[in-house]
Parts: sequence; structure tokens; C-alpha cells
Amino acid sequence: MNQHIYSATLVVHVVGIVLMAGTAFIDLFTFRYFWKRYGEDKEQGLVVENIAFGLQRFMGVGMLLILLSGIGMMAYLHQVWGQQLWFRIKMAVLVLIIVNGLGLRRALGNKLRRILGADATTDVALQLSKVKARMTIIQYLQLLLFIVIFTLSVFKFN
Ligand code: HEM
Repeated sequence: MNQHIYSATLVVHVVGIVLMAGTAFIDLFTFRYFWKRYGEDKEQGLVVENIAFGLQRFMGVGMLLILLSGIGMMAYLHQVWGQQLWFRIKMAVLVLIIVNGLGLRRALGNKLRRILGADATTDVALQLSKVKARMTIIQYLQLLLFIVIFTLSVFKFN
């Protein structure tokens, strides 16, 4: 792999980051809007929830681009990056991002769908407030993990 191919791979890395981190931010924003709308008008709230649900696929596409390009760069410069502290911590943070953003977030999104699809009972309001609290923590944590991984990757502490 020559320098130009390496740089092109880094561009793909950045595109994946923009897609994934951008979607994480929009996810937080869309859900804040959903909770507000759903309280006022359930039908409109469900439309917003559908948009948030559809956005999830971009999270996965972004992750795929990040992983493929990251592995590509490592294949070229493994000796350099693999030994460095920033990279090792980054891989640990990456696992947290996958578990939190793709695993927990998705499971909670599916749970929300089930609750919204169920017949309204007094229990629904309680379940929704629990989902809202957990979802908010997951979404803020995801943005925080991205900031940590950006800082590590740009400063490359060793
Ligand atoms: C959520 C996951 C990830 C995020 C947000 C992320 C973010 C970043 C950022 C912001 C940079 C700095 C780009 C620059 O300095 O121009 C970078 C560089 C890099 N990333 Fe990632 N990355 C992720 C996952 C990965 C993975 C899984 C690998 C490898 C398997 C990887 C390998 C690298 C390498 C080798 C560089 C250094 C490129 C260079 O400066 O030449 N990254 N990453």
C-alpha cells in the first residue's frame, strides 16, 4: 500500500466517522423531539420515532466503513500504531462504542417499538419514562465515547 492509498483509506475512515458520529448526534436530537411530540400528539410522535428508527442503519454503515478502513491502515502500519498506548486504549473504547451504540441502543429502540405498539394501559407511561431515562444515558454516553476516541486518535498519546 503506498502513501496515496493509505491517505485515501484515511479519507474513508473520516467519512465513516462523520456518518456514525453524526447519526449518534441526530439520534439524540430526534429523540428529544420525539418525547416532546409524543406527549402532545401520539400520531405525530410515531412519525418521528419511525425516522429515528430508520436512521439506525447509518450507524451500522458508518461502523463498517470505519472498521474496514481502520483494518486497512493497520495492515500497512501495524508495527507503528499497534504498539502505541493511544491505539490500545482506542480499541477498548471502540468495544464500548459498539456495545453501547449498536447493542444497547438497538435493543432499547426495539423495546420502545414494542411498548408503543401495545395497547395503552397505565403501565405504558411508566415503561416509557424508564426507556426515556435509559435512552438518554446511552445517547450522551455515546457522544462522550466519540469525543474520547477523537482525542486519542488526534493527539496519539504514547
Ligand atoms: C468508532 C471508531 C473509530 C473512530 C471514531 C476513529 C476515529 C479516528 C480519528 C478521528 C482519527 C484521526 C484522523 C487523523 O488524524 O487524520 C483516526 C485515525 C486512525 N484510526 Fe481510527 N477511529 C475508529 C476506529 C478505528 C479502528 C477500528 C481502527 C483499526 C482497526 C482504527 C485505526 C486508525 C489508525 C491506524 C489511525 C491513524 C491514521 C493516521 O494518522 O495515519 N480506527 N481514527
